[in-house]
Amino acid sequence: MQVQGAFACALAVFGAAAAAAFAGGTAAPAKRGAELYVVHCAMCHGADAMGGLGPRLRNASRKDPRSVERIIVKPTGAMPPLFPSSLNQEQVKDLAAFVATLDNKPH
Ligand code: HEC
Repeated sequence: MQVQGAFACALAVFGAAAAAAFAGGTAAPAKRGAELYVVHCAMCHGADAMGGLGPRLRNASRKDPRSVERIIVKPTGAMPPLFPSSLNQEQVKDLAAFVATLDNKPH
């Protein structure tokens, strides 16, 4: 009985951990993108995305993650190509998800 109880308990703990990992997974892309942004983009677009060397990224027109992905993969002008040298496909998607969460003003 004692052993069975411990086993059930271990299962319950594992189940909770798995559920937490899954729930985290749904919000994760933009969160990972925010971390990538600080490393790869903030020096040009600003820590608050209000612009610097590159334009501000807080425009309504940036709400479509696919267009942001296209720009990261095939940048124009003075924006450097970071894919695939520094960023992989998934990181590009995460970054685009993050940029899509930006609204017009920093909070
Ligand atoms: C070395 C500086 C630099 C870095 C690093 C950089 N960018 Fe840029 N980015 C620019 C410049 C300059 C432009 C404007 C290009 C042009 O005039 O066509 C630009 C343009 C853009 C645009 C289009 C903006 C618009 O209004 O048209 C997006 C979106 C963008 N960058 C996202 C990113 C993301 C996301 C990262 C990080 C992965 C990043 N950039 C890293 C310099 C940079």
